[in-house]
Amino acid sequence: MLNWDDPLANTKLTSDPAPRATPAIRAGQGLQEIDKLMATAGQAPSVNPDPGAVSTPIAASEHGSIGLENIEMGAARIQVDDKQIINCRADLNQLVPFKYNWAWQKYLDACANHWMPQEINMNADIALWKDPNGLTEDERTVVKRNMGFFSTADSLVANNLVLAVYRHITNPECRQYLLRQAFEEALHTHSYQYSVESLGLDEGEIFNMYRELPAVARKAEWALSFTQYLSDPNFHTGTLENDQKLLRELVAFYVIFEGIFFYVGFVQILSMGRRNKMTGTAEQFQYILRDESMHMNFGIDVINQIKLENPQLWSEKFKQELCAMIREAVQLETQYAYDTMPRGILGLNAPMFEEYLKFIANRRCLQVGLPEQYPGASNPFPWMSEVLDLKKEKNFFETRVTEYQTGGTLSWD
Ligand SMILES: [Fe+2]
Ligand SMILES: [Fe+2]
Repeated sequence: MLNWDDPLANTKLTSDPAPRATPAIRAGQGLQEIDKLMATAGQAPSVNPDPGAVSTPIAASEHGSIGLENIEMGAARIQVDDKQIINCRADLNQLVPFKYNWAWQKYLDACANHWMPQEINMNADIALWKDPNGLTEDERTVVKRNMGFFSTADSLVANNLVLAVYRHITNPECRQYLLRQAFEEALHTHSYQYSVESLGLDEGEIFNMYRELPAVARKAEWALSFTQYLSDPNFHTGTLENDQKLLRELVAFYVIFEGIFFYVGFVQILSMGRRNKMTGTAEQFQYILRDESMHMNFGIDVINQIKLENPQLWSEKFKQELCAMIREAVQLETQYAYDTMPRGILGLNAPMFEEYLKFIANRRCLQVGLPEQYPGASNPFPWMSEVLDLKKEKNFFETRVTEYQTGGTLSWD
């Protein structure tokens, strides 16, 4: 029998089962391949996975701190210069003094833009979807495939954040934003679930699309290959090779997954809203797009800061590798455009998306300091740039923050 008065150490000793040597990440958490990799390698995690077991003190290692080290009484106070985005050895539980004000500001901006999916009226969408003549079959395909892609994609991004990225970003103000971002990804998954439920779509069909429909599966599979390294408990940054792996993964998720793979779907659904079709769904997507735009910009700031602090990582060979990744991603997303829209709808067609993807890929490249991959590509959807243009991001927020805070709705003019 345990007693509250027992000394903590005794309690642990009497209550502990034998320490397990099993990986901390298990099948079913969204990154199942890790389990297989770990099992075949016979590896044990570097941090004891049994929370009740007697632990050896954890100190900030040569790889950096994770934030759960033992408290060092009387240690020198944290100075701004002690802080680094990766491989920082300073205490990660102290938010201030701030070093990266841009990260803190993004956290504040994200909180000011809070919204909830159920605040959006879906009645017009429900009536349109139930009307046999409300939408064409091609329009219904576009809605269902995007629900299929996004409903699992946002969970994948959230799992990547909390199981892989978070541990390796060793800065409290960036982690503060990551925590907010993780919640927003949960809201996005909630939003898709809410739309699927409102419209009465087949949940099994939608949520399984990412393993039943190649156009949807390919993008998720592509992204998983980057996150799996980082979620391995034995993976540590601190070497050139591993720091490049982290940087490559940040480019894969922030620049490509959230910055390219989401955009065919965003344009398709927002186009429907502009034509007064599926306006509730489109409004959900517009809120999500605003969040995603900030996620991507945060990721780009993190990538550029890591480059500044670790210039040796940004070699010519590495840059060429990233450019090849971006070109491959544009091909995958172009294929998604053709698969979701085999015939044109609403004045849109797949070749227009091909051009648009080249245009936004060029912008992403410039934002992280890579050369444009598609010189001369133009934007066939100038109305999207009104919402997305980075130069207008400030105006975008200024015009809408109050509406969110008062629970009002967006207008399409
Ligand atoms: Fe998201
Ligand atoms: Fe996101």
